[in-house]
Amino acid sequence: MKQSLEALENKTDILIIGSGAAGLTLALRSADFARVTVLSKGNLREGATYYAQGGIAAVLDEADSTESHVEDTLTAGVGLCHKDIVEYMVTRSAEAVSWLVDQGVPFTTKTATAQDASTEIAPETELSSLHLTQEGGHSHRRIIHATDATGKAVFETLQKRAEEHPNITLLESCTAVDLVTQMPENGSQPVCVGVYVLNQQSGRVEAIRAKFVALATGGASKAYLYTTNPDGASGDGIAMAWRAGCRVANMEFNQFHPTCLYHPHAKSFLITEALRGEGAKLELPDGSPFMANFDAREELAPRDIVARAIDYEMKRLGCDCVYLNITHQPAEFVKEHFPTIYKRCLEYGIDITRDRIPVVPAAHYTCGGVVINAQGETDITNLYAIGETSFSGLHGANRMASNSLLECFVVAFGAARSIFKKSSSTDFVDSIADWDESRVTDSDDEVLVSHNWDEIRRFMWDFVGIVRNSKRLNRADRRIKLLREEVRDYYIKHKVTNDNLELRNLALVSELIINCALQRKESRGLHFTLDYPDTLPIAEDTILSPVKAP
Ligand code: FAD
Ligand code: SIN
Repeated sequence: MKQSLEALENKTDILIIGSGAAGLTLALRSADFARVTVLSKGNLREGATYYAQGGIAAVLDEADSTESHVEDTLTAGVGLCHKDIVEYMVTRSAEAVSWLVDQGVPFTTKTATAQDASTEIAPETELSSLHLTQEGGHSHRRIIHATDATGKAVFETLQKRAEEHPNITLLESCTAVDLVTQMPENGSQPVCVGVYVLNQQSGRVEAIRAKFVALATGGASKAYLYTTNPDGASGDGIAMAWRAGCRVANMEFNQFHPTCLYHPHAKSFLITEALRGEGAKLELPDGSPFMANFDAREELAPRDIVARAIDYEMKRLGCDCVYLNITHQPAEFVKEHFPTIYKRCLEYGIDITRDRIPVVPAAHYTCGGVVINAQGETDITNLYAIGETSFSGLHGANRMASNSLLECFVVAFGAARSIFKKSSSTDFVDSIADWDESRVTDSDDEVLVSHNWDEIRRFMWDFVGIVRNSKRLNRADRRIKLLREEVRDYYIKHKVTNDNLELRNLALVSELIINCALQRKESRGLHFTLDYPDTLPIAEDTILSPVKAP
């Protein structure tokens, strides 16, 4: 049910920050044994989940195998994936899809038309009847989907189930500010006991006690000027976890999706990789295909390779975009498989059944994040991180398409089991300190916030983008240090607002990205630097540890 922050009476068994695939899954998997509250800083749907297009990778086809999915993931991740974690996720992919089908997600079936796909399919649907599409890096058709709007179908189904559950409270316009931790007398590891939450309606920051807290806050692609992500992707969970003392890893691997619609009025609209899975070709402005010059897998090479090839061609020719062409497919096929993209492009005067689609790469996915194990457990007791905000070791140096949603479900399942085991021996702390506003004034110079926000996103795009070099990274490092000081100064003097909280987090996360990028003295997957073009023989994660105050 949807409620207000006040009705919580400042405590809940499990506080989940984020209402995307990861957060809602954990809520539904825990609500039969605990009272759960899910926060979203915007409306519930404003995470990346709602916008996911291509689908969810799972081994469902008889001709496919776990070994093959594992192998493809390891190859796409360029030696940096943790093989045990990849096996853990992939072997649970069918269970995750089965659970989603049970919840009622209307996945496209082999016989479904676009219209059928928008109606709910029966819970007893056989997994073998689901239609499978293909995306980059996958050597088999193994992507289950709901036409080209998989995220919307997943989100709406899980939201409905969560709203129906009496133990789940869903709260909108509530921004988590910081985690509250305590050091137990005899313990070596801090314990998370609650969260400070900004109620955007009242402007007040409330202290909420919780036995367990889960960060399900999504990624940080908003650090870049051009992105496929919604506005809230400011890395809040990563920043909060870091400030609380968690390790963060592999932030240099920010994934750029090769094909974002290039149009002056289209903001952040993705053109799914599944189009390339159905044979769409990438072309230069003069119509010539070019991917064969870069990789034998051509359009279905992993994303880092395709995005870099496009970047190279755009810079070589000085053109604003390249083109994706699916006009070889019958118009009915295109409209049936890609109704959302067909409709949206038509709004911009592009009929994708007849016209080529102008596309450019854009920041898409944060492969690094808060260090977790397979159950989502972090360095802080009773604090979990799940979904894009986390680093489990699944994605390595480059996430393979549609493995992200899979990870959200599988880790949320594990986190629910972990919380269940600990729940009878965990209690609320008696109290946590109220938020102190005694030395701040109202935010009075918002132009400082918006200017710093724009500045970060611009230099991250220019200096820490698809192709890097040490000079640009060092320049970005100097800029971010200065900006972080300005942001900190503004933050400590003014009342918190959603905007200045996001800026504070975005600045910190950008610094973490730059630090990781400076530490990696090689090129691997998504991190490509002209000063170290070779890949080192041994693959190592970049793990950052917060410096503890003495
Ligand atoms: P999100 O869905 O991003 O949700 C984050 C939630 O956290 C939101 O509710 C937000 O309001 C909340 N939040 C954030 N900060 C705070 C705060 N401080 N306080 C309170 N709430 C907060 N992956 C695939 O596997 N397959 C695909 O087909 C696919 N397509 C994609 C298409 C697009 C356009 C994009 C952008 C991504 C796509 N991805 C895809 C990636 C995938 O969608 C995301 O990685 C995944 O949905 C992340 O889910 P999540 O639950 O971790 O976070
Ligand atoms: C897409 O549909 O191309 C995005 C898939 C993903 O990010 O996994």
